[in-house]
Parts: sequence; structure tokens; C-alpha cells
Amino acid sequence: MLRTPSAVRDAERHTAHNYHPLPVVISSAEGAWLTDVDGRRYLDCLAGYSALNFGHRHPKLIEAAHAQLDRLTLTSRAFIHDQFADFCRELGALCGKDLVLPMNTGAEAVETGIKVARKWGYQVKGVAPGQANIVVAEGNFHGRTTTIVSFSTDEDARADFGPYTPGFTVVPYGDLDALTAAIDENTVAVLLEPIQGEQGVVVPPEDYLPGVRRVCTERNVLFIADEIQSGLGRTGATFACDHEGVVPDMYLLGKALGGGIVPVSAVAANADVLGVLKPGQHGSTFGGNPLACAVATEVVRLLATGEFQRRSVELGERLHAGLRGLIGKGLVAVRGRGLWAGLDIDPALMTGREACERLMERGVLAKDTHGSTIRLAPPLVITEEEIDHAVAQLAAVLEG
Ligand SMILES: Cc1ncc(COP(=O)(O)O)c(C=O)c1O
Repeated sequence: MLRTPSAVRDAERHTAHNYHPLPVVISSAEGAWLTDVDGRRYLDCLAGYSALNFGHRHPKLIEAAHAQLDRLTLTSRAFIHDQFADFCRELGALCGKDLVLPMNTGAEAVETGIKVARKWGYQVKGVAPGQANIVVAEGNFHGRTTTIVSFSTDEDARADFGPYTPGFTVVPYGDLDALTAAIDENTVAVLLEPIQGEQGVVVPPEDYLPGVRRVCTERNVLFIADEIQSGLGRTGATFACDHEGVVPDMYLLGKALGGGIVPVSAVAANADVLGVLKPGQHGSTFGGNPLACAVATEVVRLLATGEFQRRSVELGERLHAGLRGLIGKGLVAVRGRGLWAGLDIDPALMTGREACERLMERGVLAKDTHGSTIRLAPPLVITEEEIDHAVAQLAAVLEG
């Protein structure tokens, strides 16, 4: 008897229904492949929303985790541990920034960025007390806290969670004139995803990010790049901003930083920005814990080789070429960069959810978003043959 149906029912019975997962129950994984409780294998084309850029259970990351589990797992930041400085120094070097502040989840990194920007605004820029404002983009996704959903434009994410945190101005994504017009003397930061993942892997116009950088510099406003999903190799560069030669004032990182093993997030910035925080003003019990640092340092070392960024470029070309071949054959549009793609399915054919269910039946796991869009973000360890396999399965699903 198959174990999946009862396992799905059990999960539904005992948890809040804040997700609508595909009816698949995974029990083990390696590299780009998942195995379910009934022994069926699936090619992972979501990679934990890019939290698994290095694949499932990358040997170097597992080794680092095991070694650390056997020595020391938690101290809190009340004491310094021996994994902490290496992690901060090496991640800072990868980012080209002086300082790193480790947290746990992506949303915490975003909250940290907002707090730092506000404090910087009052203490360095000289914004009047209580007046700090941050410009954000329509279609953003930065996490789920009450402050972050306050400036979401997705009603599912936002409705009935008020009262909302003030101090944010929303402008259309990709529109530099609108962003420029929204900046005034109280603006402390512009907070953007360099590519909007949750929105369907939306790539802004080519001159947008350089324009944002220029305007932020001219107007003495911090440019905060939320690279939680786009960063750490996903797009074929260490950071999505790199493609445009843009260096933000603050990087927000998460997801892949934890190697798919532990939640690790971080803010990286120079001392003139992150230096505004003093003892007692911000923190987290688990942020920067020894296990997290040991794994994340190994992640930084994997990225420092450039191998994963190269794979993303080369394999991404193959993925996008394959997907472009399906335009007019069930797909109406394909966007993205590197091993990251947003596909719009012809809504007359099926919804994104239906497409993902049919892909699942064919042994490929992906995730829909916003009606008829599917996101593909396979682990960067995926092979050419596996990409061809995923594209072939998608073609078969679209053929019906
Ligand atoms: C761009 C971006 N920022 C922030 C987050 C929030 O990260 P977390 O779910 O770890 O809080 C996400 C998660 O999808 C994201 O894609």
C-alpha cells in the first residue's frame, strides 16, 4: 500500500494550512534528486526556493555540519565562539564589505536592514525623528513579518494583518523615474530585489539597477539589495547585482547561505552603515551560532571557487534555450537569468498549479506562483542531461 496518501492526510490534519504543498512526501535526497516515502524519485527544480543552490546534502557542507555537531552548537552572542570571526571575515570578503551581521531567516535579515537604515538615517543623514522612509517596489517579496507585509502589494500576504507599519513608499518595479520622484529628504533607503523571484522571476530593464545606484548615491540614500533568493550563485554571478556592475550599500542574504542545512541569514555592509548598531540595539539568540557559521563558511568557500556561478551561466543557457523552444507550444513567456526561470503558461491550457501537479506525476518538482506562472530554480549541481529531462517533461505536460 502506498504511504503517501495517509502521510498527506496526516500533515493536513495537524498543521495550519498556511501552505498548499504538492501532495508528495519526501523522505531522502541527494544532489538534485528527491525520494518520497514510496520510493519514487523526483528531480528537484525548486531547490527550496534557492536555499539548496549546492544541492541536497553537498558532501563538504555535510562534513562541516557533522564536524561542528561533534564540537559545539550554540553559545549565544553573549560569548564569542571559534567559528564566528572566520564566517564574518570570509562572507564580508565575498561581498566586498567591511562588516557582517548574522541572523537566521531571510525575514530577519530584511528587518535588520530596515532597522539599520532607519538608525543610519537619524544618526548619519540627519532625518527628523520618526520621519524615516524607505522606498520599495510593487510586487516585492521580502518575507512575512508584520512590518514586511505592511509594504507588500500582494493581498494574500497583507490583508487582515494590520495595523501596518508606516514609513514605506511603494513604487512600480523597474520604473526609475517613479523611484526618483518618491525620494525626499526623509528617504533613508531604497529596498529592492534585483530580480523579483516570488513575483515570477521578473528581471528589471537593463539600466534600472545602475540608475537606482546612481540616484541613491546622488540623494544620500542607502541602496539595500535583497539578494536572499537571487544571490549566492543563482543567476550565474555571486550576486544578481553583479551582472549590472552594481554594488549596493547593503546586501541581505539568506536561503543558500545555510547550505540547505541550517537557517542562516546575514546583512553585509560597510562600517559607516552597520557601525550605527551598538550593544543592546539588535540581536538574535541563534544568529551566528557555531553550527550555522561552520556550514555557512563552507558555503562561502564553495562560492569563492566560482564553480557554481559558472555552472549557473552554462547550464542556465541550456535551460533557457530549452524553455524558449516551448514558447508558442504552451508557454507564452520565459524570463530569468542563469539557472532561474519564470515561465508563463498559456492560461487557456492549465493553471501553474495544474502544470506542477502533472510535472510531479512525471517526476519533476517545481512551484507555481500567481496563477499561470511556474518558477524553476534547480540546484546548481544539476547536469545537462537532467535539464534536458526537466524540459522534456514540461513539454510533455504542455502537450497534454
Ligand atoms: C527575496 C526574498 N527576501 C526575503 C525572503 C524571506 O526569507 P525567509 O522565508 O527565510 O524569511 C524571501 C523568501 O522567499 C525572498 O525570496
